[in-house]
Amino acid sequence: MSKKTFYITTPIYYPSDKLHIGHSYTTVAADAVARYKRLKGYDVMFLTGTDEHGQKIQRKAEEKGITPKQYVDEIVAGIKDLWKLLRITNDRFIRTTDPNHEKTVQKIFKKLYDQGDIYKSEYEGWYCTPCESFWTKTQLVDGKCPDCGREVELTKEESYFFRLSKYQDRLIEHIETHPEFIQPVTRQNEMLNNFLRPGLEDLCVSRTSFNWGIPVTFDEKHVVYVWIDALSNYITALNYLAEDDSDYRRYWPADVHLVGKEIVRFHTIIWPAMLMALGEPLPEQVFGHGWLLLEGGKMSKSKGNVVDPVVLVDKYGVDAVRYFLLREVPFGSDGVFSNEALINRINSDLANDLGNLVSRTVTMIDKYFEGSIPQNRQPGDFDEDLKKVVMETPSKVEELMDKLQFSAALADIWKTISRTNKYIDETMPWKLAKDENGKERLAEVLYNLAESLRIISILIQPFMPETPEKIWQQLGISDKKAIEWESAKKWGGYPEGSRVCKGDVIFPRIDIQKEMEELEKITAKAEKDAPKNNKVDEAGNDKKDEYITIEDFAKIDLRVAKVLEAEKVEGADKLLKLKLELGDEIRQVVSGIAKNYTPESLVGKYVVLVANLKPAKLRGIESQGMILAASDDKDLVLVTVEKEIGSGTKVR
Ligand code: ME8
Ligand code: MG
Repeated sequence: MSKKTFYITTPIYYPSDKLHIGHSYTTVAADAVARYKRLKGYDVMFLTGTDEHGQKIQRKAEEKGITPKQYVDEIVAGIKDLWKLLRITNDRFIRTTDPNHEKTVQKIFKKLYDQGDIYKSEYEGWYCTPCESFWTKTQLVDGKCPDCGREVELTKEESYFFRLSKYQDRLIEHIETHPEFIQPVTRQNEMLNNFLRPGLEDLCVSRTSFNWGIPVTFDEKHVVYVWIDALSNYITALNYLAEDDSDYRRYWPADVHLVGKEIVRFHTIIWPAMLMALGEPLPEQVFGHGWLLLEGGKMSKSKGNVVDPVVLVDKYGVDAVRYFLLREVPFGSDGVFSNEALINRINSDLANDLGNLVSRTVTMIDKYFEGSIPQNRQPGDFDEDLKKVVMETPSKVEELMDKLQFSAALADIWKTISRTNKYIDETMPWKLAKDENGKERLAEVLYNLAESLRIISILIQPFMPETPEKIWQQLGISDKKAIEWESAKKWGGYPEGSRVCKGDVIFPRIDIQKEMEELEKITAKAEKDAPKNNKVDEAGNDKKDEYITIEDFAKIDLRVAKVLEAEKVEGADKLLKLKLELGDEIRQVVSGIAKNYTPESLVGKYVVLVANLKPAKLRGIESQGMILAASDDKDLVLVTVEKEIGSGTKVR
């Protein structure tokens, strides 16, 4: 009999300049499932990739003066590197610029057109470029995109439409009769009540106003709407409609599409309607997970938090980062990311609970039995309770993994770790070691510890790609049979005669205070180096530049001022008190420039003053405005005027 298949996907990622830890969330979660299913013996297909077409990409490439393809190639290479770093085990990586994908999307579009599910008409509507979404006037909220709140553009063009409305009733029925189709359940009601029951309109599925997309074969000035292009990836990657479509027949329908909650709508309305039109089966499940946010909201405004996954993995290791992502927040809910929370988890769960259990167990076997537990052993108190807790865990973990409840699964594994640590305190091996008649009991205690650890090390494999191997090395397990997934369900698999091998501490403790200071420095530097246009919204999507208007600028009253007097401020080694001439007006300003300018050198200089800044007291001295200076870590220089001009003159 052939193996059961399991097909899991992540969304395909927009090539954005810098992926943050939030972006890694979907992929790490999908990887944990893929690893778990492989361990369970499934024939797994795990797909991820990149979503490379659309106006947004075209505009960015234009800004940079390169072709869209050049622009995406570089970013996609970086995304692939990140997945390698995070030890993502995707079986395929699809790019929507792959020729096979493009060709298949063209076939899909043509097929739907030929059978009347796509028709030509005229479109007038509002387009949100960052979301690549069309809206009707009534859908707008305060004239802005209802999804992201940003500006929309009025567009009118000849377009092709997909008969989405035709599938409304079948979609409602499918969702109502397949409660597992949209998970978590709350998202089901959202789709039914907010979109499906109020009624679907046909969907505009082609554009003529830009050309970075897949051309419609029978009407070349049109390109296929990016979501039709993007969603198709899940089947084009399996060679749907190709001469050899064996992968499609083998793996489709997908067992689960993992997606962030903001794109559940596309995956549970447009995508199944497309599949219905194509006469293909629907995916078993679309799971919409929550967002990882920073305190105060946005991933980009880092507030002293390092969110670059490369830096985080480099500092703490891939297993710690992956553990945190899947442990901290129940999958489905929103959660908050902070460096402090990450370090606390590392210290308590990884260094203290798991790390200590490994090093105590191995150290004692090494010390009391020269590395190998003898076969004469004597059962005793606490053994049965330990075994009971450990033996209940594998099936609980499986049940929770099948529901994508990673956090709860990890919580159960860690309950077992705590139980095992407690067993050490209860049995007190160090006392048994001093007792001449305690050797056999000691052997049993240490065997139970090693055995419990063996089972734990098997169960953490979906989450942690590195740690299990380290534990097996230290426990001296080399027999593959002893680390098979199913072997975790049977007590007694730690091979007799194994020889432990003391190794490095698997998770060193982190001095949180020192570490936070260091992270502070990294963020300060990253913020300074970051290109100004690199803003992202809560979901981590790129946001258009936030400009100020000329009216905003006009609010700032900048004036040329002449320095009349300057003196040091008592007890403040950075501050100087300046007397400035502003036409006929005299101002007193306190300025933090004493490290770079002596009072004497300033007198007679023409500087630039923010004249309408609200007065403030510095060291008890009133400062009526602020003078401008350019500064970095090393240096500070005053802004002056290039030629003498009357004091009080406006700078604009
Ligand atoms: O949406 N917290 O791509 P994408 C949690 N190309 N998840 C986050 C996150 C955060 N802060 N930021 C991003 C797209 N994500 C489309 C998909 S599929 C046919 C087309 C997740 O690059 C987000 O929820 O904007 C999504 O699941 C994934 O990163 C890719 O987002
Ligand atoms: Mg299947």
